[in-house]
Amino acid sequence: MRKFFKALKNKINSFTYTRQEKRHSQVGAPELWKMKRDFQIGFLKKERLKPEDSLLDIGCGTLRGGIPIIEYLETGHYYGIEARSETLEEGRKELAEAGLEHKSPVLVSSPDILKVNIEKRFEFIWSFSTLIHMTDSILSDTIKFVGAHLLETGVFYANVNIGTSAERTWQGFPVVWRPIAFYQEVCAAHGLALEDMGTLRDLGHTSKIESQDSQRMLKIIQAH
Ligand SMILES: C[S@@+](CC[C@H](N)C(=O)[O-])C[C@H]1O[C@@H](n2cnc3c(N)ncnc32)[C@H](O)[C@@H]1O
Repeated sequence: MRKFFKALKNKINSFTYTRQEKRHSQVGAPELWKMKRDFQIGFLKKERLKPEDSLLDIGCGTLRGGIPIIEYLETGHYYGIEARSETLEEGRKELAEAGLEHKSPVLVSSPDILKVNIEKRFEFIWSFSTLIHMTDSILSDTIKFVGAHLLETGVFYANVNIGTSAERTWQGFPVVWRPIAFYQEVCAAHGLALEDMGTLRDLGHTSKIESQDSQRMLKIIQAH
């Protein structure tokens, strides 16, 4: 019954959404899109992303996070991979509306990352709120891809749910919780090492939704 009223409330609210709230509702709560955009570019700049670096955004969605990153990086230095073509289509509209097509980001739609052909290694790989929606097999493929596309000195950042909880679904994807040892093992299997940077809240993410602010940010590098 609660689910029904929540869906009804969302439907009623959807009539009053702005264009961007409607677009970014494909990747999360509509009212949080700007905070999540600002958090992503703010975090990456604190981690010393420089305009001349190249960044790969896994699960780039509607470019909710991607737009200011594309604006900041040099032309052609942003790459995005997205599983759902209709969501990436919204990202392309967002790019045009932001007047940033001239920055020529490379945007690829594929539900299977191992079928993506990018012959390049990156200083930064970024995956915001996407690993939490991966089955173990897709996660393993994604980490394998990261291992093959991260420079020796590169860094991969991704937020995850650590611990255990009943699995839910979100827009057709699972929402998973795993122990930190699980991510350590998958990374080690692909020549990577990880560090837990703490909660999103500690890093400045303020959704006021406990299940989001308590997610943890992983910093993953090539193991030497
Ligand atoms: C919560 S949204 C976050 C979008 C974006 N990172 C942002 O913060 O604005 C997660 C996105 O990851 C995409 N996704 C899920 N599984 C994926 C996969 N295996 N490969 C690529 N994209 C995936 C979803 O379609 C969705 O657009």
